[in-house]
Amino acid sequence: MMGKLLRFSIFGESHGKVVGCLIEGMPPGIRVDTTEIKKDLERRWGIRESSSSRREEDTPEILSGVFRAHTTGAPIAIVLKNRDAKSSYYEEIKYTPRPGHSDYTASVRYFGYNDYRGGGFFSGRLTAAMVVAGYFARKVLEREGVRVRGYIKRIGDIEANVSLENLFSSALLCPDEEAWEKMKRRIEEIRKEGDSIGGIVESVAIGVPAGLGGPFDDDLEGELSRAFFAIHGVKGVEFGAGFRFSVMKGSEANDNLIVRNGKLETNENNMGGILGGISNGMPIVARVVFKPTPSIYKEQKTVDLRRMENVSLKLRGRFDTCIVPKAVVVIESMMAFVLADHLLRRYSYLYFMNDKI
Ligand SMILES: Cc1cc2nc3c(=O)[nH]c(=O)nc-3n(C[C@H](O)[C@H](O)[C@H](O)COP(=O)(O)O)c2cc1C
Repeated sequence: MMGKLLRFSIFGESHGKVVGCLIEGMPPGIRVDTTEIKKDLERRWGIRESSSSRREEDTPEILSGVFRAHTTGAPIAIVLKNRDAKSSYYEEIKYTPRPGHSDYTASVRYFGYNDYRGGGFFSGRLTAAMVVAGYFARKVLEREGVRVRGYIKRIGDIEANVSLENLFSSALLCPDEEAWEKMKRRIEEIRKEGDSIGGIVESVAIGVPAGLGGPFDDDLEGELSRAFFAIHGVKGVEFGAGFRFSVMKGSEANDNLIVRNGKLETNENNMGGILGGISNGMPIVARVVFKPTPSIYKEQKTVDLRRMENVSLKLRGRFDTCIVPKAVVVIESMMAFVLADHLLRRYSYLYFMNDKI
């Protein structure tokens, strides 16, 4: 289970009956609209240029925890049926693990009992369940005026330049339209080569009050990172200036404090809104790196596990050329979930403190 006061876990397999999530600790009385959940799930389809031809309609089926369109406070179980899975192809590669994929490690970890069809529990399909959980988290955040929005920062060597205003007023996966056109062309070229490509999603949360998180295991950077790394294909996370800090001086890195309209803010936001593992009231800025999709159509080397022989592998099947366009809403969802959990945790302290003052 991820989270402390607000918790969720996911279940299902890529080619099993369903994928779904179980959410616990959701406050009661929150209005739920399945058409809104569906809209979030549609954002996970990504774009034609980069996505596999598998297309799941994804109509969420709420099994518990919602009554008369409102949360009841009881555990919420939601499933999404798998309808467009084609499994026969995976029999061919059962003993020849795909390079870059979890086929080998999953078979070792589960003693060969893992469902290998479509990557089983390790499939990107499971991220649909994360998006459903994210919907509920956003409902908690909405009440406090917290908004989370992600975009495609980079595909290969093409980088977007997006301001905060532009990000929160645009519905595009990448609000830098010039860079976006280049990115789509690049993905299309890579697709034609039978290869894949990686990139970066930047996600920003605004309206986050100061004081969420803490040191040690409550560390907001730590908890956000853990949530991001739970997404398949993630290989790196940074906050604020991130890895650029390595070439900065303290005088360049430190965010100067300032009072603006009676509110404490910082002039810059190199810290990405977090200090000491605790939010400082500035926008929380995280960047998440996705590796190129492991499944590619080019010939690769692998091992036949039955004979322990080196063999070559030429994949067939349906794969995403680039994970990143599908992943934007997934990153937003995980960020929203961690922040909603921390917001509820913070409330319990605020209530206690006010009571005593
Ligand atoms: C939204 C999404 C879609 C994905 N689509 C594919 C895919 O079509 N083919 C593939 O090989 N991997 C795909 N992946 C990545 C694999 O699931 C992932 O690389 C694999 O499970 C190994 O895990 P790791 O990369 O985190 O180590 C996808 C991941 C996400 C988040």
